[in-house]
Amino acid sequence: MQLWNGKTLTVILLSALLLGVLYCYISQSYRVVSLGSVWEEITADGRSEVHIESHQFHLVAPDSLQYKQPSIVSGRTDVVTVTPWLAPVVWEGTFNPVLLDSIYKPQNISVAVTVFAVGKYVMFLKDFLETAEQYFFVGFNVHVYVFTDQPTKMPQVKMGSGRQLTVRSVPSSKRWQEISARRMELIQTLIEEKLRNRTDYIFCLDVDSKFHGRWGTESLGGLVAVIHPGYYRDDRSQFPYERRPQSRAYVGPGQGDFYYCGGAFGGLLQEVHQLAKTCRSNFEADAKEGIEAAWQEESHLNRYMWINKPSKVLSPEYLWQDFKPRNAEVYIVRFSGVVKNYAEIRPNV
Ligand SMILES: *[C@@H]1O[C@H](CO)[C@@H](O)[C@H](O)[C@H]1NC(C)=O
Ligand SMILES: *[C@@H]1O[C@H](CO)[C@@H](O)[C@H](O)[C@H]1NC(C)=O
Repeated sequence: MQLWNGKTLTVILLSALLLGVLYCYISQSYRVVSLGSVWEEITADGRSEVHIESHQFHLVAPDSLQYKQPSIVSGRTDVVTVTPWLAPVVWEGTFNPVLLDSIYKPQNISVAVTVFAVGKYVMFLKDFLETAEQYFFVGFNVHVYVFTDQPTKMPQVKMGSGRQLTVRSVPSSKRWQEISARRMELIQTLIEEKLRNRTDYIFCLDVDSKFHGRWGTESLGGLVAVIHPGYYRDDRSQFPYERRPQSRAYVGPGQGDFYYCGGAFGGLLQEVHQLAKTCRSNFEADAKEGIEAAWQEESHLNRYMWINKPSKVLSPEYLWQDFKPRNAEVYIVRFSGVVKNYAEIRPNV
């Protein structure tokens, strides 16, 4: 009797192929999961255990907490509160701040903030830092990193307990486009050199803005994007994406989800690291070919967020503009760009 006839061999080969594909698929999904902190531990009896530390997937609330019953049939109907890929869109009235804080408080999470104050932008630091003390993750571990070319002009701001401020020197620049361009590189380097293993989340914010309302644990997520206040009612053909196909920030007609702000984004450290690294390398590759995207890092961020969907989207409450009258669906402005005269503060216009 012949065991290894043609048919058996085909079946064996096909099975091997299937297993191979399955293996690749599983290791691929594992890679995605491992964007949280993953570590392997060899136990005393030699078994290997994989731990996934994720603030995302395991939410523990204290059983003593009393709070309003959530409803499954009533809530905000004037705005969309979930994206087509099922990421929450955070609006006032969609979350319970007390409940969220009591989930995250025992986790002792730490949040880093980056802010860039180069040239005349240092004038915005005082208000930014003081209002952050009042509204940004109050009661949590917050470490603000200020990048500036004038460390001597740092305003004196009293930081609350558990809150820290670090100033990092950066060279001055003649063009604001260049200042903007280097931000991704500085964020990437900060994460690699200082924050890894020490910080859970990071938010990168524009300095020429002020907090006016709570910005807290409701904003936590893997990759967090903020909807730009200027375009959120427009058709995507109107979005100021980079439209030249030769740029690595290109988003074509009929593509893109929302127009996101370059002035506020964040999330888990690993996610923001990947974003900063990718945007930086795309920006630099473009520059080598003499291309500067329409809105520099914001264009690259928009391209990135279109492909890598944010797991949480913050409504324009999280970055409004002072000169814009508040729209009806915006119950509260939490963070807003101050009115400024570009000719006065930018080294070039
Ligand atoms: C909480 O985190 C901070 C820094 O992020 C650390 O200094 C402190 O020791 C931690 N506390 C506990 C109880 O783990
Ligand atoms: C972070 O932890 C990993 C694994 O424990 C280690 O390899 C790495 O050097 C650490 N990085 C920093 C900046 O401390």
